[in-house]
Amino acid sequence: MLIETPKIPHLLQRIQWIMNPVEYMEGNTKQYPDIFEGKVVGYGGSLVFVNHPQAIQEILTNSRNKLSAPGEFNDFLKPFIGSHSMVTLGGNPHKKRRKLLMPSFHGDRMSNYGESIVKLTERVINKLPINKPFSARKAMQEISLQVILEVIFGLQSGELYQEIINFVYLIGDLFESPLNSSVVFLSFLQKDLGAWSPWGNFLRQKQKLDKLLYAEIAQRRLQKDCDCTDILSLFLSVRDEEGNPMSDEEIKDELIALVLAGHENTATALAWGLYWTHKIPEVKTKILAELKGLDNTPDPMTIFRLPYLTAACNETLRIYPMIVLTFPRLVEQPMDLLGYQIEQGKVIVGGIYALHHREDLYPNSKQFRPERFLERQFSYNEFIPFGMGKRRCIGDAFAMFKIKLVLSTILSNYQLALVDNEPEKPQRRGLTIAPANGVQMMLLG
Ligand code: HEM
Repeated sequence: MLIETPKIPHLLQRIQWIMNPVEYMEGNTKQYPDIFEGKVVGYGGSLVFVNHPQAIQEILTNSRNKLSAPGEFNDFLKPFIGSHSMVTLGGNPHKKRRKLLMPSFHGDRMSNYGESIVKLTERVINKLPINKPFSARKAMQEISLQVILEVIFGLQSGELYQEIINFVYLIGDLFESPLNSSVVFLSFLQKDLGAWSPWGNFLRQKQKLDKLLYAEIAQRRLQKDCDCTDILSLFLSVRDEEGNPMSDEEIKDELIALVLAGHENTATALAWGLYWTHKIPEVKTKILAELKGLDNTPDPMTIFRLPYLTAACNETLRIYPMIVLTFPRLVEQPMDLLGYQIEQGKVIVGGIYALHHREDLYPNSKQFRPERFLERQFSYNEFIPFGMGKRRCIGDAFAMFKIKLVLSTILSNYQLALVDNEPEKPQRRGLTIAPANGVQMMLLG
């Protein structure tokens, strides 16, 4: 069997994919629930969307060695994160970098960040005006960014701290609308028309940030017996199998990639978490009841393991996953997938959003219902907000830890309300999807 392609002109598919990826996937999965070939931007203009759990597992875990996950597929991210981060690496160098970084976001190292997360959450929420609307997405971004800067650099203030924040907000402005987001995919829009043009300004800010990062790396290299636990210090101390240290350029690019990958999705998940817990008050009541059963100062890992809180966070990541597709895989040898012939050279992705809305797995999939995660154990190919296989998110456990701690701190210590009853819809924001109106809320007096 040959894979089917939506019968919509290619140009229209491209426009719809950029402007409204959720509608694009919903429309096409109605007709082709398991697999279809979309004519979208990037990857030679064609992408095979796979939305069936077993088929997703097969392509991502690559059990038959017929697919690879080349770093070049992510070259379009180089203007933002440089050429030396794990995201743009492939093969063995990619594998080695992952091995190096993984422990920083898991186990004891992760649980040590608990106290900072709670403190930084309170710092941001305490500054909010009383009874005045604020964007929950922006407030959550502030928390998320402050946490990641502390974890990665050990920074809480200073010129570098401020410059990273400026850079992140600049990218945020660049991605604010779906139309602006096309700058990521369409390289001809990336023109330096001087310091006043959006792209020209971006390039200058990036150069400024690079300079500051090189200066910080040089200064930290001079500090010998530092007892620092941040990730920059870890990068400075590691050696590969041949005993070589990471170069300044590798460290700089990895740091920027981690800041960008590590704060944005978590901020969006938190904004959705606040939205759902206030839109459906019984969800908030059940979370609070669970938290009430704990000591006055519960251990962050105890909060992390709470069953209903976990179910509510999983449901938040299921219903509108921040990243709707996995990173792409390249078909190295012709293969058969669900009875379809896939030619060598095709580019193939796991459809995270479409999988999370399969009615055979998630009945009434548009309904927010944390209980579904308590009633049934989903297997690892049925719920994949963090992807799967060679490029699975390295910050998965850390992100869940942060989401649960921030959400439980806010729900148990502050009274928030949604500004109105209008439903929030997901909308493209760069490579991700996020609430279109940013979740407008008020902190009640
Ligand atoms: C709710 C929060 C987050 C979500 C939903 C998320 C989701 C994802 C997804 C779907 C991928 C691609 C996986 C694949 O293709 O199989 C990914 C990759 C990645 N994520 Fe996350 N992520 C989150 C938070 C984080 C955090 C906190 C960090 C780091 C501190 C991080 C760092 C990365 C990196 C470095 C990659 C690239 C991995 C590689 O190329 O091997 N992410 N993430």
